This record gives sequence, structure tokens and C-alpha cells, in this order.
Amino acid sequence: MRDLQSCINIDDLARLAAKKVPTPVYDYVEGGADDEVTLHRNCTGFQRYQIIPRALQDVSRIDTRTRIMGCDASQPFYISATGFSGMMCPKDAELAGARAASRFGVPYTASTFSNRSLEQISASSQGDKFFQVYVLDDEQLASDLNLRSQAAGFKAMVLTIDTIVGGNRERDARSGLSIPPTLTLKSTLQFMMRPKWLLQYLKSEGANMGNFPKMPKVSLGDSHAFVEAMSKLFKKDLTWEDARRMNEQWNGPFAIKGIMSAADAVKAKEIGASAVILSNHGGRQLDGTPAPIELVQEVREAVGPDMEIIVDGGIRRGTDVFKALALGANACSLGRAYVRGLSAGGEEGVTRALTLLKSEFERCMILAGCSSIEQIGPEHIRKAL
Ligand SMILES: Cc1cc2nc3c(=O)[nH]c(=O)nc-3n(C[C@H](O)[C@H](O)[C@H](O)COP(=O)(O)O)c2cc1C
Repeated sequence: MRDLQSCINIDDLARLAAKKVPTPVYDYVEGGADDEVTLHRNCTGFQRYQIIPRALQDVSRIDTRTRIMGCDASQPFYISATGFSGMMCPKDAELAGARAASRFGVPYTASTFSNRSLEQISASSQGDKFFQVYVLDDEQLASDLNLRSQAAGFKAMVLTIDTIVGGNRERDARSGLSIPPTLTLKSTLQFMMRPKWLLQYLKSEGANMGNFPKMPKVSLGDSHAFVEAMSKLFKKDLTWEDARRMNEQWNGPFAIKGIMSAADAVKAKEIGASAVILSNHGGRQLDGTPAPIELVQEVREAVGPDMEIIVDGGIRRGTDVFKALALGANACSLGRAYVRGLSAGGEEGVTRALTLLKSEFERCMILAGCSSIEQIGPEHIRKAL
């Protein structure tokens, strides 16, 4: 697609996405909670750090390969869980991202709230995949989901812990978006402005709940109803003991996503988790938290050298990935950077997003004097004065 090739960075993909999907869907992706302070800080937080290049290193060959949660990865980043991908790409939904990630050689995370089923996502490509689990109040449903994800060959479990209730996303309240999108008079007018999207949406499985065919429609526009619906769905008395039990049952790489303090990272280590994902859900849940990048150093100091640390939030440039690694992270995960590509051009759009980040990251490594991931370290970074 020519318009994808004209996108030369992740922000360009967002501008293209805005022309491809209806405005309520675009706002659902780009929006954050309350005043969106955390949403913005997740990106600006990277500006608090400066890259210190080391001179005259042999960078004639660059090796970006690494391992993420037990899986080989061609780059130190992978695709984070994003639910309801059928709204961004009605034709292929999650399958687009899973296929692109597989061809690119990085893991893909399937959300509990995916529009295609775990089995469909697993079968769509050879690549390694992680299963992101929301703990549901319905124990039977929750246990079925875990068994299914194991049977479908997911390589790691990612337990998201920051979504006990839904965040207050005012853009969704204003747009009146519901999940799955409902054709009201207002929304039909907005959807008709994107006829190609609408046609695909009507023709495809659209935003059906892949893993829970019977899930009720959730109105994001009515924040009270939304919070109530989410509260009914999620286990609200989730504790570290549940996390410990889930880790034991999973018996493989196990990450806790939504850790935002050194103390909780230590707890995660104590219950046996192999990784922590520093994340505030892309600023979509609790507004006012720090940016994940600001926590990396203190979390690394607290958990020691062996625990895997993944930075999730605000990654828009290859230099962001480099900074996270220099501060002590093992890898980064991509939310909007990937979803923008998905909205802008499905599988090809995701490939474009991954390719842009790869090229930026590799250029950054060369200019900073690093030829392998192991070489990136504290001497390459300092806090801006
Ligand atoms: C549209 C959208 C849907 C998301 N759905 C989920 C989800 O189902 N499960 C989850 O753990 N996180 C979900 N997230 C959060 C992402 O996994 C990730 O933490 C966040 O997007 C990272 O911030 P970034 O978008 O700035 O990269 C979602 C994020 C977006 C933008």
C-alpha cells in the first residue's frame, strides 16, 4: 500500500489510522483516563533520559536478537495485548498482528478480550504467542480459558492486574462508543464516513467476543454502566495468593503486567513470576501514575539482575527501546505503536510499524556504538539535567 510506505514514523501511522477507522474507534485507541496526564507522560518520560553514545566501536555488524519470556525474538520488542482488535481491523482482527509478528520474528500477545478465539489466533501463524489473562469472577469460565490457552500452545502467560474496574475514559463517553459497536443513528453517520471500514465490519465477524460468545454488549459511552459491567466481569478480590496459584498452575514463563512499584516487583519475584511488565495500561486506567520508563532503574535494583523486566507504555521510537534497555529492562512491548499500524493497514500496517521501529532501533545501536543487545548498558544513558 502506497499510503503505508509514505508513513515514515509511528505518528504518521496514527495520522493515517485517523483516516481509515471511524472517529470513535480512533479515540478508543488513542484516548486515556481522566485528563490523560499519564497517557502523555508515558511518552514524554523518555525525554528525561539522554543517550550517551560511545565512540569508535566496531559496529559493522549489528545483532539485535534476544529472548523474551523464553522465546527467541529478532528484536527486543514484541506486541502487547490489545483487546477488540476487530474494531481496528474488522477483516482480520487479531490474526493480522499475529501473522505480522510471526513473519517479523517477535512474539504476539493475545488478549482475553480478543475478537477472534484463542484457537483461531494460535492457528493463524507459526510464531510464538503469549496469552494475556484477565481474571474473571466466573471461576469456570476463567479455568476453561486457562486450559484452552495451554492446549492452543501459548508459550507464556501474562496476568494483567490493573483492570479491576474500567478506567474513566472520557473520549469514549463523549463518542458514545459501545463494544461491540452498535449501529445507532449517531454512530451510523460516523461509521458511514469510513465506508470501507463499515463494509468490512458488516461482512466480517467484526467485534464478536472470540472467547465469550455470550458476553453482553458494553456501552463505553455510559461510564456508569461500563464500570458496572466491568465490575461484574472481573474478580475484584484478586490477591497475590491468586497470582501465586496461577503461576504454579501455568508452569511456564509467567509475567505480571501492571506493576508500577519496586515493592510490587519484589512481591512478583517472591511468588515466582519470571517477569514483570512495568505498565499503567498505556494511561488508560489510573491517571496520575509515573511513566513506566521512570521506574526501570529502581525496579532493576530491587529485583536483581535475573528477573525479566519489560517496559510497556509510550514506546514510539527505536530510541525509546534503546533507553529502556540501557536503564536495565530486557525488552519493551508495543501497544499503540502496533495498533496504529493495524488501524492504518491491517497486517501490512503492523509490518510497517514493526519495520519502522526495527530500523530506528538498529540505527540507534550503531550511532550509540553497540553491536549487540548485551552491550547496551548504564554507560549509555543518563538522566537529563
Ligand atoms: C486499544 C487498546 C486495547 C488494549 N487492550 C488491552 C487488553 O485487552 N489487555 C491488556 O492487558 N492490555 C490492554 N491494553 C494495554 C496495552 O497492552 C499496553 O499496556 C498499552 O497500550 C501500552 O501503552 P502504549 O499504547 O503507549 O504502548 C490495550 C491498549 C489499547 C491501546
